[in-house]
Amino acid sequence: MGVKITETILRDAHQSLIATRMTTEQMLPIIDKMDQVGYNAVECWGGATFDACLRFLKEDPWERLRKLKDGFKKTPLQMLFRGQNILGYSQYPDDVVEYFVQKSIANGIDIIRIFDCLNDVRNLETAVKACKKEKGHAQVALSYTLGEAYTLDYWMETAKKIEDMGADSICIKDMAGLLVPTAATELVQALKSSTSLPIDLHTHYTSGVASMTYLKAVEAGCDIIDTAMSPLALGTSQPATEVMVKAFEGTPYDTGLNLDLLSEICDYFQPIREEALKSGLLNPKVLGVNIQTLKYQVPGGMLSNLVSQLKEQGAEDKYEEVLKEVPRVRKDLGEPPLVTPSSQIVGTQAVFNVLTGERYKVATSQTKDILLGKYGQTVKPFNPEVVDKVLGEDKKNAITCRPADLLEPGLAKFEEEMKQWKQQDEDVLSYALFPQVATEFFKYREAQQTGVDAKTADTKNGAYPV
Ligand code: CO
Repeated sequence: MGVKITETILRDAHQSLIATRMTTEQMLPIIDKMDQVGYNAVECWGGATFDACLRFLKEDPWERLRKLKDGFKKTPLQMLFRGQNILGYSQYPDDVVEYFVQKSIANGIDIIRIFDCLNDVRNLETAVKACKKEKGHAQVALSYTLGEAYTLDYWMETAKKIEDMGADSICIKDMAGLLVPTAATELVQALKSSTSLPIDLHTHYTSGVASMTYLKAVEAGCDIIDTAMSPLALGTSQPATEVMVKAFEGTPYDTGLNLDLLSEICDYFQPIREEALKSGLLNPKVLGVNIQTLKYQVPGGMLSNLVSQLKEQGAEDKYEEVLKEVPRVRKDLGEPPLVTPSSQIVGTQAVFNVLTGERYKVATSQTKDILLGKYGQTVKPFNPEVVDKVLGEDKKNAITCRPADLLEPGLAKFEEEMKQWKQQDEDVLSYALFPQVATEFFKYREAQQTGVDAKTADTKNGAYPV
């Protein structure tokens, strides 16, 4: 059996390279062909696509999913799910998590890749259980990072817990491209020895080592690799599908995928790349090798966020200083992996620490929440001086339980708040995750349907940044 390929061009690749702006209209003409390839799965939903659909593209993400499911008749559809944070940036009550999982599967998702930004397995339990209940494939991801605490033993123990939880497969989620080839050999071998679950490796090309890492991982027994069709591959995205297929051709790891068919699919996406380059949506900067990602262990997406945050403040000259501050803040906050939402928490706090000229003079509410335990348990303890400075008296309110245990059920309340806009059951979930953005979308949708050329309708044209 060769290595299996999960295609990411409909989710991570365009999220990483073109700010998640691929529209459903751009996807639909090619999915029939993509369905013939024989991919292990096509990752096409979740992550930032949900937010981007509502916020920038004025599309209903649920409608997108149903259309994709209509086209992909035999290829399993995969989504990315942030554990108790669902597709948002804070923790949601269990009833919202369960309903979101139920509706994702009902609308067409087969495989849910579930991760937690702190690798606190308690934050995965509800989503995994709900996925199994709905007969979905629960793939649990280890958010890969480097640091003192992240030993092979740590990864093996965490993988074991994930297997005991009932997961169907394990993903090594290397969002920053930190996993170098020899470390991949060791990690895959270690995971293979501690669990019997299939292993999927997900990495990004940001630091330039990704395809070598895949080769080593596959030789060590990795079962699935995540790749993107070449027009939206490399740089901050994944290694190119066609290249990896060619590299394994004729070896014991041969994928069996047809390169001629892949080449036709490549031809379809090529003009989308050209157009994005021309409009500036695809910045050639993100296509090169970024060695800072290895030095500061910052994912590519976070680098571009930092640049835009500093631009807004007119402080682009502070970029290097902020980059150096990121690992320090990360250490203060218990050395979490940097992935949504911990990457935003650490990044924004680093910007404040540098711009105010005094560390933690201003702390964001999310920094306070992480120190209060509201995102869960970090692998290392917090810096006690920072806890005192940021929380003061409030530190007696810190929690150690699973954070969602303290959250009241939320669905009924959300339902009540948004009922005037409701056109389908799923709308309450869009609202629960992004109340303001979803309400704007509901208004836009209604205006479209009633033919009223409401002012909000103009946002359609402004949806594509140039
Ligand atoms: Co990714």
